[in-house]
Amino acid sequence: MDGAQSRPEVAPPTGWFHSLSLPGGETTQGVKSAQVLGVEAEVVFKHGVAGKRVLDVGSWDGFFAFEAERRGAAAVLATDHFCWSGEGWGTKAGFDYAHARLASKVESLDIDVPQITPESVGTHDVVLFLGVLYHVKDPLQALAHAASVTGEMLVVETATALDVLPWPAMRYYQGSDLGDDPTNFWAPNRRCLEAMVRDLGFSRVEMTGHPATKPHWRAPELYWKHNRVVMHAWR
Ligand SMILES: C[S@@+](CC[C@H](N)C(=O)[O-])C[C@H]1O[C@@H](n2cnc3c(N)ncnc32)[C@H](O)[C@@H]1O
Repeated sequence: MDGAQSRPEVAPPTGWFHSLSLPGGETTQGVKSAQVLGVEAEVVFKHGVAGKRVLDVGSWDGFFAFEAERRGAAAVLATDHFCWSGEGWGTKAGFDYAHARLASKVESLDIDVPQITPESVGTHDVVLFLGVLYHVKDPLQALAHAASVTGEMLVVETATALDVLPWPAMRYYQGSDLGDDPTNFWAPNRRCLEAMVRDLGFSRVEMTGHPATKPHWRAPELYWKHNRVVMHAWR
């Protein structure tokens, strides 16, 4: 079936977060560009997901869930609530549209992070927790929920702050101070991120600077601002 034949009768939604490549040359103009998503995916999936059961927490338009499927994951579950329930910045319309256009087998569940448990979503070889940590008021508790359903590897992408400090520390952002967004609250430093997942039972940790954020090593004044990192952690 070609792209035109598989195109649903519904018009594409507006207000995309992810820039997706869909069949027939169709693209969505998301806030997060295809270039940024592409380089981020190379880091997120650097250890491979072929044959793995993958959970994508905070999936929104589903780029990383669909990408896991494209890279050969055995099963993918995408979850979200804030952006799927209508109470956040969007709805699930983009995910559902892309899912239909891609003829995807990715499963989905509208569930918020505090409700994520082995009983509610099962356990998964790989859990993606990308761009969510700084949005939650209780980051350690949120990580604990993600960890509770991780069989092998947890992947966290987040803003970081205070990376120059020699101790685990987390910065609180009042109001809209982080990214001019009132739904952002916390940015841990790398030591804090690692300490939290070690306390949650992960024994090996790998940190990779986000490929789309500039390294700040030559600009000490920026150590105090936020950077971004992708952390892979194994049990
Ligand atoms: C920046 S987007 C990241 C989307 C995708 N994971 C990515 O990395 O491109 C933030 C995601 O976190 C979710 N989110 C925002 N606030 C949240 C909260 N308080 N609790 C749980 N999830 C939240 C949103 O629904 C959205 O899917």
